[in-house]
Amino acid sequence: MNYSTDNLTQVNLTLYKNAEEASIYTANTIAALISRKQKEGKHAVLGLATGNTPKRVYQELIRMHNDEGLSFQNVISFNLDEYFPINAGDSQSYTYFMEQNLFAHVDIKSSNIHIPHVDGSSTDISKYCNEYEEKIASYGGLDLQLLGIGRNGHIGFNEPRSSFDSITRLVNLHPVTREDAKSDFGTLENVPQQAISMGINTILQAKKILLLALGQRKSEIINKAIYGAVSIDTPASILQSLPQVEYILDSDAAALIQK
Ligand code: F6R
Repeated sequence: MNYSTDNLTQVNLTLYKNAEEASIYTANTIAALISRKQKEGKHAVLGLATGNTPKRVYQELIRMHNDEGLSFQNVISFNLDEYFPINAGDSQSYTYFMEQNLFAHVDIKSSNIHIPHVDGSSTDISKYCNEYEEKIASYGGLDLQLLGIGRNGHIGFNEPRSSFDSITRLVNLHPVTREDAKSDFGTLENVPQQAISMGINTILQAKKILLLALGQRKSEIINKAIYGAVSIDTPASILQSLPQVEYILDSDAAALIQK
């Protein structure tokens, strides 16, 4: 793969004045893919993210399901990541998040939902991770991956220094990531040290990638990820070399962008 950075003019940036408009555009893009695949009689294979960023996107998808008949019957979903260890029923788990914020409100088949949750007692995590990869491949790969970005440039839980060739695996969470999760878990001590995450290579294989960044706290990292050096120190920087990537930003997240 060519990781050159001399293609800045090809970066596909979509800017919106606020988070609401950026989220609705993102939801519309996802809904259009689902509907197109439905007309073709095919599955729509979606890679999904958790966190604050996609919440409004999911609300809009639920609204489209309720008001406009958008069906998720043909959707196969693969979430990016899940804490380890964690009980799937815990309110901080990403399994719980997805149920609350999307799945319980639409007609997706539960057998089509995939979240990389591993039981704490599991002895063969790497086998589980390889099977997660195989499952994605068995559906022909991800048609679309929705991403947020961490303040340290992570995508999924691919923290700085993750290999661009990485696949789904057990990862150690970065201090910044654990600090950002503190409010969800009450104390820093309660935040898991590890997670299962799709790898960077898993993400890069998606046919379309939407990176959504909202708010001023993402402005510094978004500028670095799009226009800085391509480096494993900023995992999201690898995306700038790929034609299937679209960055969707609100004006606060785009505040520091200088071409
Ligand atoms: C979530 C994920 C993370 C988040 C990122 C941003 O599944 O993989 O990479 O997208 O940490 O989180 P928020 O949106 O809460 O700022």
